[in-house]
Amino acid sequence: MHNKIDLFNQTKNEIEKIWSTNKKLTEFVSFPQDLVLKEKNINKINVTNKLLDWKSESDHKFEKIHNLISNLSPFVSWDNGYNENEVGKEFLNRYGFFELIGPTGHFETTNMALYVNFLDINSHYPWHNHEAEELYFIVSGEAKFEKKNEAPVILKPEDTCFHKSNQPHRITTNDKKILSFVIWKNKFENVSKIVDPKEL
Ligand SMILES: [Fe+2]
Repeated sequence: MHNKIDLFNQTKNEIEKIWSTNKKLTEFVSFPQDLVLKEKNINKINVTNKLLDWKSESDHKFEKIHNLISNLSPFVSWDNGYNENEVGKEFLNRYGFFELIGPTGHFETTNMALYVNFLDINSHYPWHNHEAEELYFIVSGEAKFEKKNEAPVILKPEDTCFHKSNQPHRITTNDKKILSFVIWKNKFENVSKIVDPKEL
């Protein structure tokens, strides 16, 4: 039990360290100083073990945080947000997130939410949007990010991507999976919704 709490706290401290050295993160939202670690049920989904089995390469800039998150994977409350009718079973087997920090996160705060987001290789996360403003921060891997009315970009570790409130966006991976922090601020009560491509 003690080791588990240590792991959560080490992860939080490492994220705070990354925050303090990254302007994009600090300008988006300041790192909360009121975090309280809560007891939260563990929920395992298909990607839980995929992330547990994915350890960082030793020359990677974010090796430490990658491996802390990977080790945390079996102790968190995973979710995949959508149902099978919306996105298909295949996608749900390849995608997942957990709320590490936030109003209902492992670390509780009302100032922002930080989700750890995993997307496997050869995956397509369809067009979706949400009311919250969002910043992606890539920890490991690579994916193509698209936003409505903007050219697609390939994002790699340390890259960030901002989504305006309700701006539709989608994500595609090929031969690399991707591990990201997804940070929400302002109006994060409502969850993400799939957008019909005909309505873009
Ligand atoms: Fe989003």
